[in-house]
Amino acid sequence: MITAEQLHEKLKHVTIGGTSCQYPIEKCEELAPLINRVHELKKEKNAVILVHSYVSPEIVYGIADYTGDSYALSKNAMEADADVIVFVAVKFMGDTAKILNPQKDVLIPAGLNGCSLADSITGDDVAKLKAQHPDYTFVCYINTTAEVKAHCDVCVTSGNVYDIVEKLPTNKIFFLPDKLMGLNIIEEMDRRNVKKDIKLWHGTCYVHEDYNPEMIDYLRLTNPGIEVLAHPECSPGVLNHSDFVGSTSQLLNYMETAKAESFLMLTECGLSSRLQVEMPNVKFVGSCSMCKYMKANTLEDILRVLESPEEKDYIRIDENVRQKAMNCIEKMFEYAEK
Ligand code: 13P
Ligand code: SF4
Repeated sequence: MITAEQLHEKLKHVTIGGTSCQYPIEKCEELAPLINRVHELKKEKNAVILVHSYVSPEIVYGIADYTGDSYALSKNAMEADADVIVFVAVKFMGDTAKILNPQKDVLIPAGLNGCSLADSITGDDVAKLKAQHPDYTFVCYINTTAEVKAHCDVCVTSGNVYDIVEKLPTNKIFFLPDKLMGLNIIEEMDRRNVKKDIKLWHGTCYVHEDYNPEMIDYLRLTNPGIEVLAHPECSPGVLNHSDFVGSTSQLLNYMETAKAESFLMLTECGLSSRLQVEMPNVKFVGSCSMCKYMKANTLEDILRVLESPEEKDYIRIDENVRQKAMNCIEKMFEYAEK
């Protein structure tokens, strides 16, 4: 049981994202009963709740069994000891959980299904590309549908992309769907002196593509001493102007040893909200960019899918597609642990 006072105490430092992301006691009085009801239902249904760090803080801190980046969450999904997995994030992450747990019910509560990267390419697109580039190894970012993964050789996440591309025993790589991450791979391979011919698809993340190096220069000038942290879905120009680059979990971990007092976080603002909860003395500069898909998850929807799920809330994947997509994800686990 959590009380409104305990919730307010936990989340009172969150200021990022305007009033919709702030937690005065009146709002906590509305949220606490919903959180407590989710906990009851979770027990009743033997469910586990996986939550991405971009989702609203009352969900991350109120009901999550696991929070993390897409790599950690897919590992949690693989090891989940429950009958039901509620994946509070975006649909492709729920797909990954279902691919790894065909026997479990995987429910996704988000009212708005999507991700600008996953939506930028279909399985048929990949089949055509493969026919045009038969001697290329197809590497997909985890932000893709099960159908796309089923056509690819190996999948990567933002936390392991550079190391896996470097380790692949092939020089011809087709990376999809994120063009900006792809350009970052090309730059990083040059820095590592690794020679690969890398072709790219044209997808982008609508949240991360908006950042630009000029904005970083301006914020460094007006806030001397800030550290700039960026996600690899940003452009190469942005990464080259940043002090540290990493997946959402790597950015959180980096903050534990960071020396500066103020930071510019170039990723979805859920991460800054988490830092305001966990490191309330740290200051952030710059504005907040929200992912509408991640933020479309609400406690009400989570309650609804636990209480009386509808067909549309379940992830369903054709068995043939699932098997092939699983090979692609398992290859990632293999390379990530090599
Ligand atoms: P992470 O794997 O770093 O959590 O990133 C997922 C994502 O969608 C970033 O936009
Ligand atoms: Fe997709 Fe971008 Fe949202 Fe991440 S932040 S889930 S890449 S739209």
